[in-house]
Amino acid sequence: MSVHLKQDKPDTSNRLDDMKQGVIGAPLPRVEGMAKVTGTAPYAAEYLVENCAEGVLVTSTITRGEVTRIDKDSVLSMPGVIAVIDDERLITRPAQGTANEAPQQKPKSVSYWGQPIALVVAETFEDARDAAKHLKVEYREDEGAPLSPDAVELEEQEGETVHQGDLAHAMAEAAHSVDVTFTTEGHSSAAMEPHAAIAQWDGERLTVHASLQMLNYNITELADAVGLDESKVRLISRFVGGGFGSKLGISEDVVSASLAAMQLCRPVRVVLSRQQVLQCIMRRSETTQRIRLAADENGRLTGFGHEALVSNLPGESFAEPVLQSSHFLYAGQNRELMLKLARIHRMTAGSVRAPGEAVGMPALEGAMDVLAHEIGIDPVELRLRNIPEDNPEEGLPFSSHKLAECLRQGAEAFGWDHGPRKPRHTREGEWWVGTGMASAARVHNVGEARARVTLKADGTALVETDMTDIGTGTYTILAQIAGEMFGLDPGKVLVDLGDTRHPRGSGSGGSWGAASVGSAVYVACTALREELARRAGIAEDKLDLSNGRTQTGQTLSQLLDGQDMAREGHYEPGDIASDFTASGFGAFFAQVRVNRFTGETRVDRMLGAFGFGRVLNHKTARSQCIGGITWSIGAALTEALEFDPRDGHLVNCDLAEYHVPVNRDVPDLEVLMVEERDPAASPIQAKGIGELGMCGGAAAIGNAIFDASGARIFDYPMTPDRVL
Ligand code: MOS
Repeated sequence: MSVHLKQDKPDTSNRLDDMKQGVIGAPLPRVEGMAKVTGTAPYAAEYLVENCAEGVLVTSTITRGEVTRIDKDSVLSMPGVIAVIDDERLITRPAQGTANEAPQQKPKSVSYWGQPIALVVAETFEDARDAAKHLKVEYREDEGAPLSPDAVELEEQEGETVHQGDLAHAMAEAAHSVDVTFTTEGHSSAAMEPHAAIAQWDGERLTVHASLQMLNYNITELADAVGLDESKVRLISRFVGGGFGSKLGISEDVVSASLAAMQLCRPVRVVLSRQQVLQCIMRRSETTQRIRLAADENGRLTGFGHEALVSNLPGESFAEPVLQSSHFLYAGQNRELMLKLARIHRMTAGSVRAPGEAVGMPALEGAMDVLAHEIGIDPVELRLRNIPEDNPEEGLPFSSHKLAECLRQGAEAFGWDHGPRKPRHTREGEWWVGTGMASAARVHNVGEARARVTLKADGTALVETDMTDIGTGTYTILAQIAGEMFGLDPGKVLVDLGDTRHPRGSGSGGSWGAASVGSAVYVACTALREELARRAGIAEDKLDLSNGRTQTGQTLSQLLDGQDMAREGHYEPGDIASDFTASGFGAFFAQVRVNRFTGETRVDRMLGAFGFGRVLNHKTARSQCIGGITWSIGAALTEALEFDPRDGHLVNCDLAEYHVPVNRDVPDLEVLMVEERDPAASPIQAKGIGELGMCGGAAAIGNAIFDASGARIFDYPMTPDRVL
């Protein structure tokens, strides 16, 4: 039986608050943690499958043109080689990280260096890799493919454009104004687990173990790609070693393994090399961002401008949504916002963790720091003075808004005690020491989700959905929601995820997972409670199941009377999304030291204060924040994709050359959660958490570099050459 909830009004009374179990919100460790750290949790490539052949992808060595011939005979006689798959469906895979858009590339056409063009299948991985290196491919190359955003015409993304009032006039009249341009470099998702798939074909049905974020949608992509009905396709993704956007859509590992398995009637495994993961899955676009701020003598914004330039391949629909939170974060009645897209032949640009704010907020918050210095007021105070009552563009109320509390409580916890001051005030040996801060903002999203909850006759519960846990804690929080609703120890709730045989969840992306699929579980549990209450002769809203017993003493098993009871919860975001602006908010504070001889920056300490609705598990939520802040450190100091200007290929395509922060780069991070309930954000009053921790944090570090050293830098990452 399926129960549907389309949320169209705020949910102010909530069952999760009525229960007194203390399970929801508790800092429980992840239920799958032990399996992961002991190596017993199987990742996509690790399933033992009999008679499995191994495939290695061959990638393009031209930037733009066509594959005119693949000489299969050049490798078919090599040891162990079984086949070369060069099906055009492999080349025209769906666009990464975007909606259900048809791919635009022509069959066999190449539009970036490193694009997968064929799969070599052999008995062993080594044989396949060797043959892949020797495969002879002929191309017709088109010269002059534009490789840099400066070289092409720009397409305005009209949905993002805002012209409100007269910004130029406001700038001219302003007591204080700032007009600055920031740049950010491309980023990689750089998940630890490479993209991988094992495909099995029984002549009728295709089963694929893969590493994916969005099974609910990936099954449609894969069925389309290989020409099967969805009912003949099963995707399994129980454990995912990080996604960060790179596994939102299926990639060539999944498509090529599937096509090969179907053609050869034999299981085929494809694991991308680290270089291939970085070079051909997708990138976050580089950005150029002009920010204009006009303020009166008290620091109240009268004008706000944010124009951004991003890039993608021709035909791809995704444009890094840099302005996402800029539309509502600060007041200012005269507004100019514009997003422009350049079509260039670097690999596909797509969603990398916190698409939009991850790069938009560091620019905006860097500009706010410049303005605070210009005016001579405390940067915390500048932000407090500019928190709008309602969304300044659409006039919508905010579903909830904790920016002011985060700024105040964060400042206090960090020991922020100064306004603007002359840089280079503190020197310790060869290090200048300084502090900086920034606001955090990240839009809240929810999506449709289904989950089945079964109360078992033995007094346990089972939660089933094709939702994925990409390392975020989904297994654990779903057990907590069901545990709270039934008075069950979460250890008695088995959560079974990552299998398309189950009802379709929301998938993991855009920080929407917990609030969306958590709401589906909540809806199913509420329906089950109604039936239990009916059997017990108690009103559902009065039903108290503390410790698995009703207030009249009946146990769950007695109420079930030997029969399992199941309900499917179906949650859908309703009209409420158009009644409110929903976002997570927060504040970052950082102390850094900058070496006066080498320009090296070290982060001494960092604190993030966040308000993001109900916290379902304080440990997993904190871990998400710590992960986000760690990404902020990378974005501020080290992470940058470097492209060869001659052919657009990615040069730094491994974790030795693409510098993510490591333990030595990350000090103890402090996380302050400003508790709230957001009754309009989702039926469980939770908002997105995962990405907020990196939305602005890089600016706190950049602003601290200025306070320490006097170097005002407008280009992220702030590497030593830029600091000196
Ligand atoms: Mo996220 S970048 O939508 O996984």
